Formats: sequence, structure tokens, C-alpha cells
Amino acid sequence: MARALARGWGEPVMCSDSGSGRAAALAAEVGGGAVSNVEVARQSDLVVLCHKPAQLNVVAAEIAGDVKAVASVLGSVSALELARAYRPAPTFRLMPNTPVEVRKGIVCYAPLCDPDHPVNVELEREVLALFCRLGSVVTLDERLLDPATAVMGVGPAYQSLLAEAQVDAAVRYGLKPEIAARLVVETMAGSAELIAHRNYDTLTVRREVTSPGGSTARGLDALERSGVRGAFQAAIDRVCGERS
Ligand SMILES: NC(=O)c1ccc[n+]([C@@H]2O[C@H](COP(=O)([O-])OP(=O)(O)OC[C@H]3O[C@@H](n4cnc5c(N)ncnc54)[C@H](OP(=O)(O)O)[C@@H]3O)[C@@H](O)[C@H]2O)c1
Repeated sequence: MARALARGWGEPVMCSDSGSGRAAALAAEVGGGAVSNVEVARQSDLVVLCHKPAQLNVVAAEIAGDVKAVASVLGSVSALELARAYRPAPTFRLMPNTPVEVRKGIVCYAPLCDPDHPVNVELEREVLALFCRLGSVVTLDERLLDPATAVMGVGPAYQSLLAEAQVDAAVRYGLKPEIAARLVVETMAGSAELIAHRNYDTLTVRREVTSPGGSTARGLDALERSGVRGAFQAAIDRVCGERS
């Protein structure tokens, strides 16, 4: 996720890792430098936490005394846990997806609503402006962040699987894989833009393509009978169920 964010911002970063060398590779790619956690904290106006949730307290113990502000993309660390770990530094809980790398991401922002931790509104505006450069930012009540993540965070994997299934099916009918991939993926991208242009009204877009008794109607019927809706419900149940 750190690499996707840094690529999306397209600017030098000070970064760190736990010894793998990935930070040095990232700094070599986008500019900046690979340094220790403490140096990242000392040299930065904003530290973006991209480690695994389980490392929250270890990393906070190391750098909390030096950070000026923190943005976290950690999946299962609440805004309150984050604020407590880094108090008194201002903290922000966000959830991006990997298309941030190409500035087509969605970033969910879950503000902390706690009287003991009043929001620094000016800094919040700056942090959101930074993440807005990566796509669009959607502010959400934190209790909805899990189901949101279950569609937008994991979504790039779902869309890839859907594309792969369609490509494989088309290849069985004689299309070359690279041509099939282009047809499928460009159709996904174009359909996404069209759906957004129609105010996210998927039914309208679907009806526009579907003549009564026609080929699209037959294809949709096959998908429905194969359980496509049930499959997505089962997927979100698994993702949210395993988080809670
Ligand atoms: N993947 C996604 O699509 C996605 C989307 C939204 C949010 N997230 C969140 O993003 C976070 C990272 O996920 P990921 O998939 O990018 O995981 P990842 O590939 O395992 O990257 C985690 C990075 O954290 C570094 N790290 C671990 N312990 C550290 C420490 N003590 N000090 C400094 N760096 C440390 C690791 O260093 P090494 O390289 O040395 O191991 C690694 O580079 C998770 O909290 C996840 O919930 C992920």
C-alpha cells in the first residue's frame, strides 16, 4: 500500500521498512530516502502508517515522541486506538485502495468523533487534500468502514477476478488472450465511467444494453442463475465476518 500511495503522489518520500529493503527500492523509484522509523518521524510533517495493524504499538512506541501528525491506512485499527497510541499528535484514519497508484483510487475517511480528541480542522483539510490527489475521498461513519472496505479495499481483486473469468471464457471461443483482456478491461473502465455519468444508476445502464429477449438478456439470465448476486453477498459476509 505504501508503494501504491507513493506512486500515486509521484513525489519523493522518506520511508522505512522492517529490514526487507523495500523502502530503499521505493525511494530509488520515486525519490527521497530510506531511513529509520524515527528519522521518518523527525523529517516529516505527516507520517503515513502502512505497516500491518499488529505493529501499531511497536511502531508507536518508537516514533510517537517525534511525529507531528499521523495518517493511518491500517485495516483494523480504530480511529480511537490510533489517537490513543499517538496522543497528543493529531491522527487521521483513512482506507485507500490500490488504484490510488494511478490516481483513480477511492479513499474512505473515518473521522474520530471523540470530545477528548478534537479534530484539527485546518490539518484535516490539508490531509484530505493530499489524499484527494489520489482519486476521490469519501467521508464515512467509522462503523461503516468494514463493509466499505469489503467492497472498495478488496474490490481491485474482485474486478481482476471478474475480468479474468471473462477473458478465459472469450479465449475458449477463439479470441487471443491479449485481445480478450483489452476488450474486457476497456469495457469495465468505460462502463464504470458511464455508470458514474448516469449518477451510479446501474439499472439504467443495464437496461440500455438489454433488449427484451435479446442476447444481453440471455447472458444476464445465465449469470443470475449461476448465483452471481449470492456469490458477492457471500464474499462480503466472509470479509466482514472475519473482521468482527
Ligand atoms: N493491500 C491493500 O490493498 C490495502 C488496502 C488498504 C489498507 N491496507 C492496509 O495497509 C497496511 C499494509 O498492507 P500491505 O498489504 O501493504 O502490507 P505489506 O506489503 O506487508 O507491507 C507492510 C510494510 O510494513 C513494513 N513494516 C512492518 N513492520 C514495520 C516496522 N516495525 N517499522 C517499519 N516498517 C514496518 C514492512 O516492512 P518489510 O518490507 O521490511 O516487511 C512492509 O514494507 C495494512 O495495515 C493494511 O490493512 C492495505
